[in-house]
Amino acid sequence: MSASQKSVRIAMMPGDGIGVEVMTQAVRVLEKLRDQDALPLSWDSLEWPSTAWHQEHGQMMPDDALQRVCEYDALLLGALGDPGPITDSGRYRLPDGVSLAPLLTFRKGLDLWACERPARLLPGAQRYLADPRAEQVDMLVIRENSEGEYVNQGGRLQQGTPHEVATQLEIFTRRGTERLIRHAFIRARERLNSRGQERRYFCAEKGHAPAQVCLITKRNAQPAWGELYTEVFAEVCLEFPEIGITHQLVDAACMKFVQCPWEFDVVVASNLHGDILTDLAAVLSGGLGLAPSCNINPNSAQMPALFEPTHGSAPDIAGQGKANPAAMLLTSAMMLEWLGFAASAERLRQAVALDLVESGAQLRSCEDVTTGIIAHLL
Ligand code: IPM
Ligand code: MN
Repeated sequence: MSASQKSVRIAMMPGDGIGVEVMTQAVRVLEKLRDQDALPLSWDSLEWPSTAWHQEHGQMMPDDALQRVCEYDALLLGALGDPGPITDSGRYRLPDGVSLAPLLTFRKGLDLWACERPARLLPGAQRYLADPRAEQVDMLVIRENSEGEYVNQGGRLQQGTPHEVATQLEIFTRRGTERLIRHAFIRARERLNSRGQERRYFCAEKGHAPAQVCLITKRNAQPAWGELYTEVFAEVCLEFPEIGITHQLVDAACMKFVQCPWEFDVVVASNLHGDILTDLAAVLSGGLGLAPSCNINPNSAQMPALFEPTHGSAPDIAGQGKANPAAMLLTSAMMLEWLGFAASAERLRQAVALDLVESGAQLRSCEDVTTGIIAHLL
């Protein structure tokens, strides 16, 4: 690193369960890339948020965690949740609402309003669908990440009684909707411009288009926000005449993700719908072991963005060295790209892809998969 180059600081937060294992591998790969490409990267490994920190301190992270992470340019998180192993019935466990809360605190507190989850079936990855056209799966699901069904406002009246009433408020703002949908179109345009091979997607108005944004709602049952999304979508799409548009109700989208997932390009969905659809999309791209994710504020790099694979702490395999580090490494590539190191990010993605083709079918340890990927980083 030259003295003039400002160091880019990353907070590594391994978290719980397999998060710790895949983070160890991400550090190996990032060290290698830093050396090979002379990247001005430095990082600290934080013990929080984690269940282990909670066991010692009575909370998942310090009170000033949100301020402290603002010292960094990016946050890389392994996973949060049950640390496992499930065979240890005496392990220290927390309710999900406690162990996973830091994720939502970071997403909301740092205003990381877009969650991007690409789903592309790479050669060598497991194809769960029998139809060979599933090899063409290459979509990007963009999920609202700051409001909607996740605002967590509500309560329980007369709890535990036969008259109990639970309320859970959902909030959708025009501002939040507009920035999300515009971002989806921007990404669709970028994908179109960087696509080597031409593709044709269904478009409600134009028949077919070379790129597509599919809006997801449940406007037949939830018209208030469904119509807001629909109206904003119709307004914003006018700025992107080359992009085809379509709409799916979320239940029909689930069906089509299985029936014809190759017909989707960019999919834009609310917080909860996006959450559900991205587990499904992860399976279409070979499983959670290959599904990366990022939480960003596309309009601002002032706050650190948060990068975390879609998978959780996987207590069933935790501590056994069985986790697939690929999701974490593809997530690290998204982080490098966000930080402006596009060439290194692409080399890492290529290395993961080459390793999959060569050895994807073999049963290997977390460490061995990483060693294979590093061997392709030359
Ligand atoms: C995810 C997770 C989280 C979510 C949970 C852990 C709160 O499922 O990142 O997809 O629902 O957003
Ligand atoms: Mn999820």
